[in-house]
Amino acid sequence: MASSKPHIFIFISIITLFFLFNPTTSQETDNLDSSSSSTTQKNCENRWIHIRKLPPQFNLDLLTNCSEYTFLDDLCPYLANHGLGQKTHNRSHSWYRTDPSMLELIFHRRMLEYPCLTEDPTTANAVYLPYYAGFDSLRYLYGPEYNSSEEHGVQLFNFLQNENPYIWNRYSGHDHFLVMARPAWDFSQPLDNDPHLWGTSFLELPQFFNVTALTIEARAWPWQEHAVPYPTSFHPPNLALLDSWILRVRRSKRSSLALFAGGGGLSSAPNIRRSIRIECDNSSSVGNGNSFGYEKLCDTVDCSNGVCEHDPIRFMKPMLGANFCLQPPGDTPTRKSTFDAILAGCIPVFFEDLSAKSQYSWHLPENEFESFSVTIPKEDVVFKGLKILDVLQRIPRARVRRMREKVLELIPRVVYRKHSSSPGLRTKKDAFDLTIDGTLDKIRSRLQELSDFVL
Ligand SMILES: *[C@@H]1O[C@H](CO)[C@@H](O)[C@H](O)[C@H]1NC(C)=O
Ligand SMILES: *[C@@H]1O[C@H](CO)[C@@H](O)[C@H](O)[C@H]1NC(C)=O
Ligand SMILES: *[C@@H]1O[C@H](CO)[C@@H](O)[C@H](O)[C@H]1NC(C)=O
Ligand SMILES: *[C@@H]1O[C@H](CO)[C@@H](O)[C@H](O)[C@H]1NC(C)=O
Ligand SMILES: *[C@@H]1O[C@H](CO)[C@@H](O)[C@H](O)[C@H]1NC(C)=O
Repeated sequence: MASSKPHIFIFISIITLFFLFNPTTSQETDNLDSSSSSTTQKNCENRWIHIRKLPPQFNLDLLTNCSEYTFLDDLCPYLANHGLGQKTHNRSHSWYRTDPSMLELIFHRRMLEYPCLTEDPTTANAVYLPYYAGFDSLRYLYGPEYNSSEEHGVQLFNFLQNENPYIWNRYSGHDHFLVMARPAWDFSQPLDNDPHLWGTSFLELPQFFNVTALTIEARAWPWQEHAVPYPTSFHPPNLALLDSWILRVRRSKRSSLALFAGGGGLSSAPNIRRSIRIECDNSSSVGNGNSFGYEKLCDTVDCSNGVCEHDPIRFMKPMLGANFCLQPPGDTPTRKSTFDAILAGCIPVFFEDLSAKSQYSWHLPENEFESFSVTIPKEDVVFKGLKILDVLQRIPRARVRRMREKVLELIPRVVYRKHSSSPGLRTKKDAFDLTIDGTLDKIRSRLQELSDFVL
């Protein structure tokens, strides 16, 4: 790789960060404030958020070091555009090479344009910690501090205790929240684990039990964390671009019954990805003489070795052409591709509830989960020989159409729209807005419980 590359990106990111941390210098933000203040003021009741000021070691410095995580790829290119990454091509308005681990940065940028911010923590209903927890965990997960991963978060806690401790003490941290752009699994190593296994202990530290953590995957029995959608590559800046995408998705010709975009499944031990691979490979050898008029019963996109990660065209086109998108658990139960599929109007097929149903209740309504998705228990496929393609072929066409309409309705809910987007687009709640609603509700009921307890 060219040695000048990291420096260019560091330069870009410094510029980026200048605007990020000085919102008042941005003309855009000024306009935003003046245009929205009168209309939103009255809607801010119970919705005030204070952004806790943190020293740069907890956010900025972690980014300026983006090329120095030598044990990983250079992370600098993904910082561009406030964490959306670089555009997929020069003339693209909505599509970026987004890395999901940038959610901490994307979220922070969006918080700065949240209409109900308050400088005064004592009037706030919630306190946001702009700490890039996932970034900070890298040195413990992959780096030199692997053996002291129970210390992840201790410095932050000490800061919160020493600087203006009244902000924390008001509600013992119960009103605080932060984003951790990795599965909670990466932060839940028991404190006394010996030998040392995977993960830091951030979520196991009693110091943070009261804080709401927004992760891209929660544990099976989450208490302090709640899962929020992985960011996809689609970040429209205005309503027209969102609507024209949804129109394209609705009109797309679906010539495959099912699609699997992912890697793995090559091991000989029985598991769901292996079953999918075998069934898909076998179905394509049947040829195109199937009774439902599909060109393919099962299409696959090989995403091994991370080739799809920052290249949405590889999988979005095939997803637009499929009726159902298979979402088997990977290294962990959830996958980003669930959200790519919804974005492409491809009905997601799950093999366990931990993959989505018990995770994303703020964004994917749990009580109508069957109206936009299919669940096939993985045990039935792996051990009882149930054929996935048979199950999907038996679903009547009319029902498939209704499910797709539901999936289309979900698109705006799982998209993280671009920062500084048009006022029209802001009238539709996106993944960020729903996360804020969910977080405020969670904190409100937590504080309610505490005050009941005291009484
Ligand atoms: C950034 O990198 C420098 C040099 O490698 C290191 O000394 C510093 O501790 C790093 N900062 C953070 C916040 O990781
Ligand atoms: C994109 O734009 C930049 C600068 O405007 C230019 O240098 C580059 O060649 C363009 N890339 C493509 C693929 O057109
Ligand atoms: C962590 O500890 C183990 C066992 O003591 C040692 O083998 C390993 O090199 C240590 N890792 C780091 C990154 O220091
Ligand atoms: C968490 O909340 C409980 C109950 O309100 C309180 O006793 C405890 O001290 C809090 N923990 C921290 C670290 O503030
Ligand atoms: C492949 O398909 C044929 C015909 O549909 C079936 O008889 C055979 O058992 C399948 N093989 C595997 C490995 O599933």
